Amino acid sequence: MARNKIALIGAGNIGGTLAHLIGLKELGDVVMFDVFGGVAAGKALDIMQSSPVDGFDSAMSGGSDYSAIKDADVIIVTAGFPRMPGMSRDDLLTKNAGVMGQVAEGIKQYAPNAFVICITNPLDVMVWALQQKSGLPAHKVVGMAGVLDSSRFRLFLAQEFGVSVEDVTAFVLGGHGDTMVPLTRYSTVAGIPVPDLIKMGWTTQEKIDAIVARTANGGGEIVKLLEKGSAFYAPAASAVAMAESYLKDKKRVLPCAVMLNGEYGQKDFYVGVPVVIGKDGVEKVVEVEFLPEEKAAFDKSCDAVKKLVEDFKKLGV
Ligand code: APR
Repeated sequence: MARNKIALIGAGNIGGTLAHLIGLKELGDVVMFDVFGGVAAGKALDIMQSSPVDGFDSAMSGGSDYSAIKDADVIIVTAGFPRMPGMSRDDLLTKNAGVMGQVAEGIKQYAPNAFVICITNPLDVMVWALQQKSGLPAHKVVGMAGVLDSSRFRLFLAQEFGVSVEDVTAFVLGGHGDTMVPLTRYSTVAGIPVPDLIKMGWTTQEKIDAIVARTANGGGEIVKLLEKGSAFYAPAASAVAMAESYLKDKKRVLPCAVMLNGEYGQKDFYVGVPVVIGKDGVEKVVEVEFLPEEKAAFDKSCDAVKKLVEDFKKLGV
């Protein structure tokens, strides 16, 4: 059986990390595309030269010709510009809007049957633009944000409780921005919900509130430390988890930005909710019951995303 083909549009910090992880996990062959074709080709060659040491078989190539992505099974998009200190994700809208049009055109022409994962920020509006402009079915175009946000939440909870990250599950939904909604009620240690852990005296509400705030600002904390660019190891790992669930038909339940069609009382834009990812792409949207304050927080987050979609439309790109 032929190996899977995974195309990476954007060979910057996240793109390079994606290629390395895909190699180490032997998920398939990698084609990297970047406006700087030499960077894509150089990273592909460098990573492939690590394969005899690490023992993986994965052909990697890079360049700036869209035809190389032909018939890719999965495409992961990181093309565009990252944040610098002092910028919000939304500040990237104008810079990255034009990039999405070019990428959508390339995908539409060469790989219309691919499962497409967008990482470029501001995420919820960029993935929406990518789907609209490429014309691919919405269940095959998803945004990576929730896996990353919930991974950050899981880490901070595991550190607070002094337990393995493996035993912590977390639930984060809404837009990938300041209004994201980490739901403590559905976040657990080995199945025990966080509110119960507060009652058991393992932590306090104040500490959980601080963790929720740190999670919502998780990307910003890293931008400030790096001073030039934004997070890339955890975003790449998160997108690879989504790609793997699709390629292996694992049907993992992962929080992803997807097009809503009436679920949660919202429709016609992308926002983060839990979904099942399998061989057909987004196979199911998981709809949980909200408490009134949770619903209000989710709706507020949706409003922020919808406003950004309107701003995008006004750009006329
Ligand atoms: N087509 C293809 N590649 C492009 C284009 C384009 N039109 N415009 C820019 N690029 C490439 C750049 O040349 C660069 O190599 O995209 C790459 C982006 O890499 P980095 O600047 O290192 O950014 P990275 O950290 O990988 O983040 C990429 O993901 O998380 C988001 O906010 C982040 O929007 C940013 C994106």
